[in-house]
Amino acid sequence: MLLQFVCEVLKFHLQVHPTKTFIMSKHLFGFLIILTFSASISHAQQQYAGNSVMQCNISDETGPSPAFLYTCNGKMPSCKAFLMFRTKPPYLSVSSISNLTSSDPMEFAHINDISSSAVLPPDVAVIVPVTCSCSGQYYQANTSYVRHDVDTYFTIANDTYQGLTTCNALERENPYGEFNLFSGLKLQVPLRCACPTQEQILNDTKFLLTFLVTWKDTVPQISEKFNVSASSVATANGFSEDNPVLYPFTTILIPLPAEPLSSQMKATSHPTISQQMPKRSHKGLYVGMATGAALAVLCFFLFLGFIHYRRKRTNDASWRIRQQRKKQQLPAHFLDKVVGIGEILKIYTYEELKAATDNFSPHKRLSDSVYLGNLRGKLLAIKHMSTDVSKEIKILSNINHFNLISLYGVCEHDRVFYLVYEYLEKGSLRDWLHKENSPLAQSWNRRILIALDIANGLDYLHNFTAPAYVHKNIRSCNILLNRDLRAKIANFALAREDGGSHTNYIVGERGYMAPEFIQTGNVTPKVDVYAFGIVLLELITGREAVVLHDDQEVLLSETVIPVIDGTDVGAEVNDLIDSRLQVKNRLGYIIDHAALALRLLKLSVACLAREPTNRLSMAEVVSALMKIQEDANYSQSFSVE
Ligand SMILES: *[C@@H]1O[C@H](CO)[C@@H](O)[C@H](O)[C@H]1NC(C)=O
Ligand SMILES: *[C@@H]1O[C@H](CO)[C@@H](O)[C@H](O)[C@H]1NC(C)=O
Ligand SMILES: *[C@@H]1O[C@H](CO)[C@@H](O)[C@H](O)[C@H]1NC(C)=O
Ligand SMILES: *[C@@H]1O[C@H](CO)[C@@H](O)[C@H](O)[C@H]1NC(C)=O
Ligand SMILES: *[C@@H]1O[C@H](CO)[C@@H](O)[C@H](O)[C@H]1NC(C)=O
Ligand SMILES: *[C@@H]1O[C@H](CO)[C@@H](O)[C@H](O)[C@H]1NC(C)=O
Repeated sequence: MLLQFVCEVLKFHLQVHPTKTFIMSKHLFGFLIILTFSASISHAQQQYAGNSVMQCNISDETGPSPAFLYTCNGKMPSCKAFLMFRTKPPYLSVSSISNLTSSDPMEFAHINDISSSAVLPPDVAVIVPVTCSCSGQYYQANTSYVRHDVDTYFTIANDTYQGLTTCNALERENPYGEFNLFSGLKLQVPLRCACPTQEQILNDTKFLLTFLVTWKDTVPQISEKFNVSASSVATANGFSEDNPVLYPFTTILIPLPAEPLSSQMKATSHPTISQQMPKRSHKGLYVGMATGAALAVLCFFLFLGFIHYRRKRTNDASWRIRQQRKKQQLPAHFLDKVVGIGEILKIYTYEELKAATDNFSPHKRLSDSVYLGNLRGKLLAIKHMSTDVSKEIKILSNINHFNLISLYGVCEHDRVFYLVYEYLEKGSLRDWLHKENSPLAQSWNRRILIALDIANGLDYLHNFTAPAYVHKNIRSCNILLNRDLRAKIANFALAREDGGSHTNYIVGERGYMAPEFIQTGNVTPKVDVYAFGIVLLELITGREAVVLHDDQEVLLSETVIPVIDGTDVGAEVNDLIDSRLQVKNRLGYIIDHAALALRLLKLSVACLAREPTNRLSMAEVVSALMKIQEDANYSQSFSVE
C-alpha cells in the first residue's frame, strides 16, 4: 500500500512537471547562459549545460558551448570514461545497450555484475564503459545509430540517448539537415563524456562518469551515492554552490577515484516500480522478486480490506452480503493470479523467432499479424507491429493477472517489433461465439464464466494496479480463450493510464464505443464498462456488435435495449437468446432460461447507461455476475438435465 502510494506520488510528479520545466526553461535559458558562463571561467572543469541542451539551434562559433558536448580541457586527449544509461525497451539486454553505445559487451556485463546474456527490466540504471577522445574542441565517445521512422535529432538525443548526446552535436556531426532524415539512415552519434583535468587528477580523480539527471536529483544526494564530496561535483560542473538547480534529462559529471560500482547505480535508479532495481546477482534478484510478490499480495489484501471496510460503512446491506461472498471466494482464485509477478521479459533474436515459426510460414499464421511459434517446445503467439509498442510492453510487464494475456518477450528487427505472448488455443471469443457449434458453446455456465473472466480482468486493471489502466479496446475479438475456455484480455495497444485523461483522436471499434467517448474523447474506466456491456450482449444473444441490415449498420445495443426497457412491445426476451443456448432436456422440452437471460441482459443494459456515472463499476459487475453464476449452478443441480 505504502509502496504503491509512493509510486503514485512519483508518477504524479513525473506527469505534472515536464511541461512546466520545459516552459520554464525558455525563460531561464538566457539567464542560465549568463549564469553558467560567469560561474565557469574561474575554476570550473566543465560547464553544466542546463536546459540549453533542449535548444537545437545553438551556435558555438565564439567558443565551445556546453549545449554541444564537454570541452577538451583534460590532461589526456583520450581516456576511459563511464556513462549512465537507463534500460528502456528495446534497450534491455547487454547486447542491445552495448550496440547502441558501441561499448564492449563483455566489459559492460562485467562492470554491471550481470551475465552477458542478461535481460533487465525497464528503468534500471546501468554503467556503460566507453573510450572518450578529444575530437576538435570536444570530448566524445563515438557510436552510431540507425534512424527510426519518426526520429528527429532532438528525440534521438533526448529520448533514445536520454541526454547522453545533444541535438546540436548530432547536427554538427552528420551532413543531413533535420528535414532530410530518412529511415535506415546511419547517423554518427557523439556521446557526452570527459577526461579528468590536471587539477582533478591531483585531487585523486581517475574517471568521470556522465550522470543522467532525473526528477528530484540533487548534487548532495548524488555525491553521497558515489561517496564523493559535493564540492568536487560542484567544481566539476561549474556550479557556484553545492546544491544548484538541476534539470531532468540533462547530464552532470561525477569525478570518481575508482571505477563506479553497480551498487552505486542502484540507489540512483528511479523507483517507479518495486521490481526495477538493478540486479547484483541472480540470487538477490530472486529474493527481490519474492519480496515483491509478497508485498503485492499484502497490498492486495490490505486494499481488499480497505474496500471492504469502506463499503461496510455504507448502509447498503446487499452490498455487504455481496462483498462477503466475494471475499470468501477470492483467495483461492487469487493465488494463481499473482504467480509470476516480477517476471522479466525475455529478448528474443529475430533468428530465434524465424526458426520458431518456420520462417514465418503461412501455415503458422494465426491472424493478420500473429504467428504461432514453437520456442523450445513451448507454443507461443508472436505478433509483429511497426507502431510504437513501448506502452504495451510497459503495461504488460507491470501487471499480472490470470485474465490478462501474459507477455513473455520482445524482439526488434528492422524497425519491426515482435511481441511474444502466451498462446491461447481456442482463439478469439468472437470466432468462438460465431463459429463454434460444439456442445460447449451451448452451456450457459460456460458463457457466464467467460463473462466473469473478462469482468475480473477489467476489475483488476481498473482497481488493483498502480497506476490504474483503461483498456480502451474491449471487444470480442480482443478476448482470447485458452484450451479450457478461460478468457483472457489481449491487445493493450490502446490502453492508457486512468487519469481522467482525454484524447483528441477517437480510435475504437464501432458498436463498442461509449457515447461520451465518441462525443468528448473522455477516457475513464467507464469506457471499458460500456464495451463490456456489449460483449456480454454478444455472449447472450450470439449476435455481432454491429450487423449490416439493408446496407444500414444496426448496433446490437439498439436492438436489445428497447426490449429490456419494455419500450419495444411485442418483442420477447426469448427471441434475443442465442439459439444454441436453447437446449432441450431429455424429455424434449426446451429448458426455459428466460429468467436467467433477463438477469444477464439487465446487467448488460446497466453497463450501457448513457451517462457514465449511471453505469456500474467493474467491481459491481463482478459481484452481480458471481451472484448470477451461483444461482445458475443452484438451479441446475435441480433441473432434469
Ligand atoms: C533558436 O530557436 C528559438 C525558437 O525555438 C528562437 O527563439 C531563438 O531565437 C533561436 N536562436 C538562434 C540563435 O537562432
Ligand atoms: C548494431 O547492430 C546493427 C545491426 O544489428 C549494426 O549494423 C551496427 O553496426 C551495430 N552497431 C554497433 C556499434 O555495433
Ligand atoms: C569520432 O568521430 C569523429 C568524427 O566523426 C572523428 O574525427 C574521430 O576521430 C572519432 N574518434 C575515434 C576515437 O574514432
Ligand atoms: C525528453 O525525454 C524524456 C524521457 O526520456 C521525456 O519525458 C521528455 O518529455 C522529453 N523532453 C521533451 C522536451 O520532449
Ligand atoms: C568513502 O570514501 C572514503 C575516502 O574518501 C573512504 O574512506 C570510505 O571508506 C568510503 N566509504 C564507502 C562506503 O565506500
Ligand atoms: C578537490 O577536493 C576538494 C575537497 O574534496 C574540493 O573542495 C575541491 O573542489 C576539489 N577540486 C577539484 C578541482 O575537484
